[in-house]
Amino acid sequence: MEQGVTLEGKRILLIIGGGIAAYKSLDLIRRLRERGASVRVVLTAAGKQFVTPLSVASLTGNPVHEDLFCLTEETEMGHIELSRSADLLVVAPATADLLAKAAAGIANDLASTILLATDKKVLMAPAMNVRMWDHPATVRNVAQLREDGLLFVGPSDGEMACGEYGPGRMSEPMEILASIAGALQPTSQVLAGRRVIVTSGPTHEPIDPVRYIANRSSGRQGHAIAAAAAQAGAHVTLVTGPVSISDPVGVSVVRVETAKEMLAAVKASLPADIFIGAAAVADWGFEKPAAGKIKKEKGSGPPTLALVENPDILAEVSRPGESRPALVVGFAAETGNLIDHARTKLQRKGCDLIVANDVGPGTGVMGGPKNTVHLISSDQQEAWPLLDKGEVARRLIQRFAGMLGK
Ligand code: C5P
Repeated sequence: MEQGVTLEGKRILLIIGGGIAAYKSLDLIRRLRERGASVRVVLTAAGKQFVTPLSVASLTGNPVHEDLFCLTEETEMGHIELSRSADLLVVAPATADLLAKAAAGIANDLASTILLATDKKVLMAPAMNVRMWDHPATVRNVAQLREDGLLFVGPSDGEMACGEYGPGRMSEPMEILASIAGALQPTSQVLAGRRVIVTSGPTHEPIDPVRYIANRSSGRQGHAIAAAAAQAGAHVTLVTGPVSISDPVGVSVVRVETAKEMLAAVKASLPADIFIGAAAVADWGFEKPAAGKIKKEKGSGPPTLALVENPDILAEVSRPGESRPALVVGFAAETGNLIDHARTKLQRKGCDLIVANDVGPGTGVMGGPKNTVHLISSDQQEAWPLLDKGEVARRLIQRFAGMLGK
């Protein structure tokens, strides 16, 4: 980061967790203040074991906040007020414990309560032993927090205070400072005032009241696109099949089960400027699911399930007419011949762009946090590198905004 970067007038709420890296947070405070930012600090009980309230107060020039149930503070600067009066929340060091609490929504002390109550951006600078960082629980928590829209800087690789080597060291103050400066940049409102409909997740096609046909779509990519569109200023309707991930912030969510219901919900949400069909819609369903549970009768063998073709939502939305959105985008999840299939799909469906991804076994794309996509339109073909699904979403939104503007 350039030495000259200014953070003049910016208000940072810094949560210092309990880790040996807490000493670096003292340097971070100094550097933030040198650049014109004001800093308030929440010190956790564990954080206090590593740095003293006196040194933090001397460096920030502000009282240190430690207690959730401090009555004088509730009137002066309670947990809501602390977050309200900040431009950005930074957690450094973000311990495994703080990450776990934030991921689970636990609020049992001042720091975790602020993290649950805030509507501001949160930047996490994790620091912990490498085994703790690699533990499936932490991996899960970090993935959840990323999905919830929290930002991360580090950790970096290196020798650790505990004598082990690997990822887990808190980023250096200058790196954290650069991420703070980045997080404080206004999100560009490239879709301000635009209407966007996104489909996401799988569909469930009921066989009888207890059984259904489904697929492995997690909804992660579609939900991330809806979130990125909302962040870019669009009015977003997300029509989602059954998923276990949380709703994106700032988006109207319509929950459906079957392909037919998804089509009806999409039609009801039109008109729109952009339609993005990221859902893994079942190609076939049942005309009329059995009213009661199909029983296993002795000697009669397995039942024959007569499938019927589902409506093709993308093809219907793409059909020329008054309600056709200016930009219609489809997805192609393939396990081979990606580009050829995507090109055929572009023509068959009549959409403007296909985002193709390889979901073959071993890619980890279906249900995983990352994606490698190819963009295919009538006059272009582009391969993107392996990216976090959130980053894919942000880049796609920038691209769609550009296409709309043409
Ligand atoms: O034909 P295929 O399922 O591979 O096409 C994928 C694209 O078409 C995705 O954008 C998906 O959301 C959309 N689709 C649809 N309705 C269907 C099947 C697929 O909108 N019945």
